[in-house]
Amino acid sequence: MATCARLDGSEPRTDALRDISRGVIRLSEMFTRGSSGIGTSYLEDLQLRRAYLAYYVPVNLAKVQILLAELQPLIAERKGQEFRVLDIGGGPGTGALALLDWACSTSAPPSGTLRMTAMDRSGAALRACTELWESYLAEVPECRNLSLQTVECNLERTFPIPVQVGTQVSGYHLIVVQNVLSELYSESLNAVEKRVALVAKLLSVLEEDGSLMLIEPALRATSRGLHELRNQLLGHYECSVYSPCLHDENCPALVHQDDWCHEERHWERPAWVAQLDEAVGFIKDTLKFSYVVFRKDGKTLVSRNEPFHRVVSELRVMKGEKRVWLCDSAGRSEVGRQDKDHSESNAAFEQFHRGAIVKIGDIVRKERNGRLATLGRILRNGTAEIIRPAQN
Ligand SMILES: C[S@@+](CC[C@H](N)C(=O)[O-])C[C@H]1O[C@@H](n2cnc3c(N)ncnc32)[C@H](O)[C@@H]1O
Repeated sequence: MATCARLDGSEPRTDALRDISRGVIRLSEMFTRGSSGIGTSYLEDLQLRRAYLAYYVPVNLAKVQILLAELQPLIAERKGQEFRVLDIGGGPGTGALALLDWACSTSAPPSGTLRMTAMDRSGAALRACTELWESYLAEVPECRNLSLQTVECNLERTFPIPVQVGTQVSGYHLIVVQNVLSELYSESLNAVEKRVALVAKLLSVLEEDGSLMLIEPALRATSRGLHELRNQLLGHYECSVYSPCLHDENCPALVHQDDWCHEERHWERPAWVAQLDEAVGFIKDTLKFSYVVFRKDGKTLVSRNEPFHRVVSELRVMKGEKRVWLCDSAGRSEVGRQDKDHSESNAAFEQFHRGAIVKIGDIVRKERNGRLATLGRILRNGTAEIIRPAQN
């Protein structure tokens, strides 16, 4: 379970709560309804910055930590070696702080090996990042010497590859790009191509054993934008998907314009996020987002040589039947199991959930007028198994 325990701090006072609530509403309108502000240095605005720090940082930090858990075996391989992290469009350093908190809580990577760089267009957000970083370190004596480099730049105009403090190398072992891509080039007619070109530059500064983590809001437009970028990157550059996809084919969610692929993960909602939820009428009781982690070394979260599927919907409970949508290299398909066919071998089907990687023994499709039905069924003698739950 993700934790931002050390970043908890105290709950906002009532007057502050009112101001922060207004800021959260303004930010939410910008992020979800595309009201004016996106594409500007909105975090220079004190009310918005405070609201972002109080509400969005803990939520987004927890998302990064969930994905760090997926990368844990690979991060552990770098034990004792320098671990360079670049937080692109990090704002107040959500990605950098997620890593710091993760390293201090799990020792993977050991906090002493971290070299962190946060890059953003907002100087005020980067100053907030430095303040948060320093106040966190003040509580963790063994990490006191950890350095954070901040780089103020407009990524639409320039991509300065920073030279890391204390090292000559500029390759990164982890690059985090969270909730930024859809803000970039938003006025441009060829926004996707420009975003792909930027992400390609990021790939070029990624170490061969590094991970490039792209996270976007779980909205239809932003998620589909990410799927499109994923396709183009895989089509034109040397990289492959570590997670969540089980294949590097074109994203099947783009076939039908109403589809998109997103996660919904559990978390321990900090008390003040719940308090703000109540004040503004939102519910962040689960973490929703879309993501892709790219690698250059071909490593994948689970083996590609197995007939696995990924669950890309909730388990839908219908009259006399349960169904899910699955994704694999053949595309998206719907699979059901009628309640009358429940058996010991297929009982795990009832535990299928969004984001789980599963294996199914036998999917049967009825034939009608010479055509196979799109809905597949697991029969009584079929098997269902969860290979990897969405969260361990
Ligand atoms: C929604 S915030 C995301 C912050 C952080 N990554 C997170 O997920 O919490 C988007 C960030 O992207 C930055 N940003 C937007 N356009 C940018 C640009 N052209 N150049 C650099 N940063 C930009 C904003 O300043 C802001 O900090």
